[in-house]
Amino acid sequence: MRAVVNAPGTPDGVEFRDVPEPTPEPHEALIGVRSFSVNRGELTLLARRPDGWRPGQDLAGVVVRPAADGSGPGEGARVVAWADQAGWAQLAPLPSRRLARLQDHVSFQTAATLPVAGMTALRALRLGGALSGARVLVTGAAGGVGRFAVEMAHRQGAEVAALVRDPTRAAGLPEVGAREVLTDLDGVAEPFDLVLESVGGEVLNRALQLVARGGTVVSFGNSSRQESRVGFGQWGAPGSRLIQFFVYESGEPPTFEADLALLAQWTADGQLHAQIGLHDDWSAIKPALDALRDRRVNGKLALDVTAP
Ligand SMILES: NC(=O)c1ccc[n+]([C@@H]2O[C@H](COP(=O)([O-])OP(=O)(O)OC[C@H]3O[C@@H](n4cnc5c(N)ncnc54)[C@H](OP(=O)(O)O)[C@@H]3O)[C@@H](O)[C@H]2O)c1
Repeated sequence: MRAVVNAPGTPDGVEFRDVPEPTPEPHEALIGVRSFSVNRGELTLLARRPDGWRPGQDLAGVVVRPAADGSGPGEGARVVAWADQAGWAQLAPLPSRRLARLQDHVSFQTAATLPVAGMTALRALRLGGALSGARVLVTGAAGGVGRFAVEMAHRQGAEVAALVRDPTRAAGLPEVGAREVLTDLDGVAEPFDLVLESVGGEVLNRALQLVARGGTVVSFGNSSRQESRVGFGQWGAPGSRLIQFFVYESGEPPTFEADLALLAQWTADGQLHAQIGLHDDWSAIKPALDALRDRRVNGKLALDVTAP
């Protein structure tokens, strides 16, 4: 079968290669991949991993062969899935607990945007507890995780402020629930009960000043690659907390399946909207990765897997 393989040192950095068809474990289904999405973190992995490494976390497709242990959806089921790697391929083996059924009217490319970004937003927001009436700040709000977080927080009754770097990238944020779109935090006076923070540097410094008494700052990224200062005198209010969040370490592994199902259901119901900034065939993976790397994709990148 064909797969995208890391090829450092080559002009494109990745190559299509023929690789052996996967042999699933008894708890794994074999998925015929129809679309996959690319997360920014995967660009970092590509740069660090050796030749031959197989990328690919977010995918959607059809069950070609159900898990031999009887778990998970049956043959022909449409599914959304979260792989550890090797998902940018025609076939991928996935544990049943990393799969959820996909409703017929949700496209594969939309579904493929959900796993890592949607789960990160969902689980990071849970750290803020009940959000009805809460003031929530989402930084990096025009990004993949940020957009989902804005909409989910709004759906839960929060008053959401969205911090973006570039206002031209903010299109659609008010429509999914941002009460205000900010380009800096200088003029903000009223504190936030919850901050979902992924920009780092000065933005994290400022978030600590702006968190309310007893409030929470969830730090889950550092897009700016700048360092922050954290000290006792830094905090704007007593009793607030800073939590470092990593989605792979969040919750119990069995809940991946339940949360994937929740993300798919919300999407099917029109409560969650994936913004796809670039959709193409996987044969265009090189320019697509370049566009993502150069920040020319406003929203998620989705690629369809077709015959070579
Ligand atoms: N902890 C976890 O488990 C976890 C899971 C997923 C992602 N992450 C991390 O979370 C972050 C967001 O992920 P993502 O997939 O949403 O990435 P993304 O789509 O690239 O979104 C990042 C957003 O941050 C903005 N941004 C970048 N640099 C900035 C700067 N210096 N100042 C202000 N804004 C800046 C970008 O603005 P533009 O739109 O103008 O480019 C973009 O809208 C990344 O750092 C990623 O590695 C962590």
